[in-house]
This record gives sequence, structure tokens and C-alpha cells, in this order.
Amino acid sequence: MHAFDIRIGSDQMDIVLIHRFLTEESYWARGISYDIVANAVKHSFCIGVFIDDRQVAFGRLITDYTTFGWLADFFVLTPYRGRGLSKAMLSTLMEQSWTSGLRRLMLNTSDAHGLYRQYGFEQPANTATLMEVYRPKAHLETGHRR
Ligand SMILES: CC(C)(COP(=O)(O)OP(=O)(O)OC[C@H]1O[C@@H](n2cnc3c(N)ncnc32)[C@H](O)[C@@H]1OP(=O)(O)O)[C@@H](O)C(=O)NCCC(=O)NCCS
Repeated sequence: MHAFDIRIGSDQMDIVLIHRFLTEESYWARGISYDIVANAVKHSFCIGVFIDDRQVAFGRLITDYTTFGWLADFFVLTPYRGRGLSKAMLSTLMEQSWTSGLRRLMLNTSDAHGLYRQYGFEQPANTATLMEVYRPKAHLETGHRR
């Protein structure tokens, strides 16, 4: 396997690559615009995996760095899956000095529970306390485009 390096920080990310994956291949953000992705990256704690200086994986934590974080847009490009790159990103996230102090980390996943469980994520014991405003198509609505 090629050596890889992990980079953190919004300004290190390849937004063109991230946008292309999210708009064409993700099951949650198809059709999302470049500007929305760029804005989301800018305002998140970002992690990427790079091979030969090209980004092959990405994830971001929407966070205040103090109390709460939401893991989003987490992916590995198809040819690079099954090599532990997602685990390398999650280890990096969990090793940040501030992550252990967060009261709650959350995420949404349709099928990768087994991955996130290895990093302490569990299904909420009490879903009765959770509430949400859920607009899964917000990124496609004209009024929400940025
Ligand atoms: C899910 C995803 C990020 C995993 O990345 P990956 O680099 O292929 O995963 P890894 O090879 O690092 O696998 C790590 C571990 O997680 C497990 N795992 C990976 N995907 C899993 C899944 N969908 N369900 C359950 N376990 C999974 C693997 O079995 C492996 O277990 P191990 O530690 O016992 O070996 C990747 O498949 C992907 O990008 N999928 C499409 C986008 C997506 O669905 N993102 C998640 C949105 S929440």
C-alpha cells in the first residue's frame, strides 16, 4: 500500500475533490453546490488523507471545540477503501487534545455502525430526548443556496 499522510485544517482540503464526491457519489448530499461545500468545510474541523499529495478521504467535525461535535461528510474514495484509512482519520480526530472534553459527539450513518462503534459511538440509549429539524433536501432548495 502507498504511504499516506493525514492533514488537518480547512485550508489543507481539496474542496473540488470533496465537492465532486459529495455531489456525485454520496447517498446524503447528491446535487449539493460547490459553494455550500466550501462554506461547510471552512466552518468545520477537517481531516483528510493524502496519497502522493492527492486527497483520497475526508471527514469533518462540526464543533465548538468545547462541548459538542457532529461528524459529517465522512468518506474514503472507492479505490482506497478497505485499507484502514477511515480508522486513521477517526484515530486522528479522537486524539485531538480537545475531543476528549466534548460532552457529546454525534453522527448519522446508514450502515457503518461497526466502524464508529470502535471509537466509542453507540446508538443513543434514550432517543426520546432527541429532537430535530430535518430538511434532507435543504441543499437543493433555491432559497437555501449560497
Ligand atoms: C464507510 C467508509 C468511510 C469506511 O472506510 P474504509 O476505509 O473502507 O474502512 P476501513 O477499511 O478503514 O474499515 C475500518 C473498519 O470498519 C469496518 N467498516 C467499514 N465500513 C463498514 C460498514 N459500512 N459497516 C460496518 N463496518 C464497516 C470495517 O469492517 C473495518 O473493521 P475492522 O476494524 O474490524 O477491520 C467507506 O466505506 C466509505 O467512504 N463509504 C461511502 C461513504 C459512507 O458511507 N460514509 C459514511 C457515512 S456515515
